[in-house]
Amino acid sequence: MQTSDLIKIATTAPSADNSQPWQFSASPEGIVCRYKDRAVKQDPFGPLGHGTLMSAGALLENINTLCPRQAAPPQLSIDAARWSIVTDFSAWPDSPDSAIVNLLSSRHTNRHPFAALPTQPIGNVKHAFSTQIITLTAAESIRRLANALTDCSIARFNDQELHEWLFSSLRWTPTEVDSGTGLDLKTLHLPPGGRQFMQWIAPWERMKLLNRFGIYRILAAADSALFRQAPGVMAFVGGQTPKDVLECGQLMQRTWLALNAQGIAVHPYYALTDLGNRLRQKKLDGRWAAKIQGAQTMAAEVLQLGRDEQVHMLFRIGTPRQIPVRSKRLPVTAFMEASLGV
Ligand SMILES: Cc1cc2nc3c(=O)[nH]c(=O)nc-3n(C[C@H](O)[C@H](O)[C@H](O)COP(=O)(O)O)c2cc1C
Repeated sequence: MQTSDLIKIATTAPSADNSQPWQFSASPEGIVCRYKDRAVKQDPFGPLGHGTLMSAGALLENINTLCPRQAAPPQLSIDAARWSIVTDFSAWPDSPDSAIVNLLSSRHTNRHPFAALPTQPIGNVKHAFSTQIITLTAAESIRRLANALTDCSIARFNDQELHEWLFSSLRWTPTEVDSGTGLDLKTLHLPPGGRQFMQWIAPWERMKLLNRFGIYRILAAADSALFRQAPGVMAFVGGQTPKDVLECGQLMQRTWLALNAQGIAVHPYYALTDLGNRLRQKKLDGRWAAKIQGAQTMAAEVLQLGRDEQVHMLFRIGTPRQIPVRSKRLPVTAFMEASLGV
């Protein structure tokens, strides 16, 4: 297998709005992967933002899974400006196990309704990360987390930056979808007429006007409706240093791979984390501060978080009822700098 084939499999890793914020290059130490902003508008996370680090962790997990027998494991470094993952050239296998390729390429997001979880217990993934997973199946705990999520979605639908970023990520036509960037509208679970509605609310000025009549309440309720009825929820929680977040991305990916391999569907929800981070970073419109603080407190109570812990990601899980359309990826050459011989 060529390096490009391995990079193609590694970059099946998930990223917020399928932003794929990675670039590979060659260096004397080996193959280096670093942050790259591919957003049409500016990436709201940046090189060391939470969403970027979660995706970098997922990518590192893929690289580790692809290169299982390494004399020297990939070297992760995070400094004040950026993260990088360096893999020795000799560590990349000539031909990875087809079961591993299948495992990584089969992982995906499913935003449709789910049926009950299988009766046998969901196997725990083995790990030594500082972060942990809390699995909830009790309807009352899920309902309380759903309330916290709805409150965060309310603030989210009132935020111009988040609105414009989402709409700049949506891909409407076959040509746009084939570019391999962003979110194909068909990957979303929209009701009849949903596509036209989304097109209508795309301009922020219109959304702002509709928000005066409370449309954000309806959208936030719709956004968390399937979460409220979820057969199960997984919360990824832990400390708040960049290393903690990146490790949580690794744990998220390891869990996601294992769940999909067991036939369990996964739908990630990031609004609770993102709005909580915006509150802490003072990037949130003051109107929503009390609501978001309340949502974070509620989630901390349900999940019994320690003082320095936060929720890094929520998964809605269940048995799939529908096979979803899958998000595409950029052509692999877009991830490779000229130093890698493309
Ligand atoms: C940090 C992060 C945040 C995400 N947030 C959400 C979310 O709030 N809602 C959602 O439906 N998908 C979310 N996703 C899933 C991505 O949109 C998805 O992974 C990406 O579009 C690629 O699709 P795939 O997972 O099917 O490969 C998130 C993924 C990551 C890594």
